[in-house]
Amino acid sequence: MSGRTTLTIVLAAGEGTRMRSSLPKVLHPVAGRPLVSHVLAAAPAGTGDAVAVVVGPDHRAVIDEIVRVRPDAKTFVQTQRLGTAHAVLAARDAIAAGADDILIAFGDTPLIGAETFRRLRAALQDGAALAVLGFRAADPTGYGRLLVDGDRLVAIREQADASEAERAVTLCNAGVMAFAGNTALQILDRIGNGNSKGEYYLTDAVAIARELGLRAAVIETDEDEVRGINTKSQLAEAEQAMQRRLRQAALDAGVTMIAPETVFLSADTTFGKDVTIEPFVVIGAGVAIGDGAVIHSFSNVVGARIGANASIGPYARLRPGTVLGDGVRIGNFVETKAAEIDAGAKVNHLSYIGDTHIGANANIGAGTITCNYDGFDKHRTNIGAGAFVGSNSSLVAPVKIGAGAYIGSGSVITKDVPDDALTVERSPQASREGWAKRFREMKMLNRKPKGSK
Ligand code: UD1
Ligand code: MG
Repeated sequence: MSGRTTLTIVLAAGEGTRMRSSLPKVLHPVAGRPLVSHVLAAAPAGTGDAVAVVVGPDHRAVIDEIVRVRPDAKTFVQTQRLGTAHAVLAARDAIAAGADDILIAFGDTPLIGAETFRRLRAALQDGAALAVLGFRAADPTGYGRLLVDGDRLVAIREQADASEAERAVTLCNAGVMAFAGNTALQILDRIGNGNSKGEYYLTDAVAIARELGLRAAVIETDEDEVRGINTKSQLAEAEQAMQRRLRQAALDAGVTMIAPETVFLSADTTFGKDVTIEPFVVIGAGVAIGDGAVIHSFSNVVGARIGANASIGPYARLRPGTVLGDGVRIGNFVETKAAEIDAGAKVNHLSYIGDTHIGANANIGAGTITCNYDGFDKHRTNIGAGAFVGSNSSLVAPVKIGAGAYIGSGSVITKDVPDDALTVERSPQASREGWAKRFREMKMLNRKPKGSK
């Protein structure tokens, strides 16, 4: 399909009240990515391709997300919800710009794939003016029914307007359509609102195309791909379906998982070669895992870059801004945030490392805490290459530990430590010979024999 341009119009003006949430419906995440962004990710993005999103009033947050994902996207506001065709025409200016193919998708249908968009566009290239995505519904109630005559699509009948016989049809409208650019407006402008709901139905496009002597085609897909999301239950179902896909893709790419059904991935997770992920790991948005890295069980990783052959967990928590060099070891009960940890460094047990740079091959002892927050501001800690921080040390930021320096266990470090120094901040240890023995003897002497008054 080289040389052809596509305009993808995403309808996202839904109210989403059944989500029972203050978050706009299309911003709810599936696999760490908002619903609408999944649709945008599947939209053609070649040279000359464009995207238009139709949002409702007061949808500033939706617009921000759209522009973050597709900076070239145009957004249009549909001020009144007068139907799907009315929504499409809110993007009239984008349509008038004249793409070869126009795709229409819903912002709440996140499982739609790029291949399906491609098949719809191929139907246009074969001469159809309109291609509609259909599926066989287990329960067709509520969907528009696709009425066919042989291999021709004759009309789409909405549930409310369908006869008894038409309601028995299980081939349903997924909502996704493709219009040939040169006849799209001609068809769309003829759609009226003379139906039982008084709405401008996009689905009327099929009958109108036919009246104009144009051909409409059906492309079939699985119901799973076109599930729309209106409730939290449907959101959870979509999450499951997406996780199955992502796990399969990870396995196909060579990731080792002995219990993939317990591993949760994000749509944007990337893997090097020979990565191993143990059972019960959750990977949030923005994670890249390098060659040969191992993520041990019960770890939670978000917004982190993990270097080659690094070892994470078990029970590690990597938060956004974590960047780990090759061979870094992050052990159990370690939390990192905005932490750049260079190659070969180790933080093996029970630590918090935040707003910190750790140089190569440094060793951070068990229980080391970077005290980065004073209740108002965050401060940075800098630990030089090859430094050795003794167990149970508190590093009160802003503070710098020199390269190759040694910190005695239990120190509370509030001042910079020079390179190669030994710094111990600790009360002197005092012992009193025989004290404990004398203490015990005195206690025994004063104790009354059992049973006496
Ligand atoms: C629509 C289809 C139906 C199809 C079903 C698939 C029409 C008339 N009906 O019905 O054939 O089987 O989807 O799920 O197209 N929207 C707007 N502005 C509006 C109206 C809708 O932006 O004025 C958006 C909604 O946010 C949603 C999409 O369009 O993303 C579909 O609207 P919805 O009300 O869910 O249509 P259905 O009744 O489900
Ligand atoms: Mg719907």
